[in-house]
Amino acid sequence: MVESISSFTMEDSLFAEAVKAYREAKHPVSITGAGISVESGIPDFRSPGGLWSVFDPQEYATIDAFIDTPEKAWKLYRAIAEKLREAKPNPAHEALARLEAAGHLAAIVTQNIDNLHQDAGSKSVIEVHGDHGHLQCLKCNTVEPAEESQWFAEKPAACGKCGSIMKPNVVLFGEGVRRMAEIQKHLELCDALLVVGTSAQVHPVASFPALVKARGGQVYEFNIEETALTHGGSGLFGIFSGFSTGPITDYFLKGSASESLDAFASAVIGK
Ligand code: APR
Ligand code: ZN
Repeated sequence: MVESISSFTMEDSLFAEAVKAYREAKHPVSITGAGISVESGIPDFRSPGGLWSVFDPQEYATIDAFIDTPEKAWKLYRAIAEKLREAKPNPAHEALARLEAAGHLAAIVTQNIDNLHQDAGSKSVIEVHGDHGHLQCLKCNTVEPAEESQWFAEKPAACGKCGSIMKPNVVLFGEGVRRMAEIQKHLELCDALLVVGTSAQVHPVASFPALVKARGGQVYEFNIEETALTHGGSGLFGIFSGFSTGPITDYFLKGSASESLDAFASAVIGK
């Protein structure tokens, strides 16, 4: 496992080294997961008390479950809508927007559906799992903005074009992820990857750090706890490459992203 950094000041030599290396990157990219939005009041999925401990994903979050029992699945999307209602970006989302504005971040690939990166002012945001702000017709594929009242209705809304049932415009288990061609281009150029608030268990995003590492890029992980990326061993890189290896993470910044990423961005930007 890599040594963790838990003091986010330039007096900490490992933090200073991470900042210095990141400043030299030519095409830095970030991948984000539910953990970055926890301090905006949105629970993550896999932490104790997370959404998957309340809603079994097999029963609520697969495309087959949605087709078979849409009214049941709707309970999950209503619960998410309740959390998103009041949610505002926190200093971690703002830190990524500041890095981009200062020329130190080319793109964010987010697994989140909460729009908080855009709300924080980030421009280059790739939503690989879709977004919760729209509905998508199961039949004709029309995508329409979701009205708040639609989330709080008992039944999923009907499509304005064909009358069929609408699902949230989010990628359910069993569906393909979005925008992979664009992501691929960023990954080919990426020489520094900020991995923020993801348990790195869901593919394809979970395999991006290993891809960047294999090309010689540096991986910076921001999380409150270690993941398979931090541990290495028979983790993701093993699956990806067929070999067991050491950790994928080069720098592990341990703590809440709202603190660690905020401090990191300030140090990189120099203010
Ligand atoms: N700061 C940093 N990291 C945090 C914080 C925080 N304040 N709070 C929680 N975390 C970390 C957790 O330790 C965990 O590693 O965020 C991670 C959240 O992991 P998951 O709940 O598995 O969320 P995510 O990785 O985004 O899940 C990926 O799985 O269920 C699907 O489609 C869903 O997009 C989601 C995907
Ligand atoms: Zn339709």
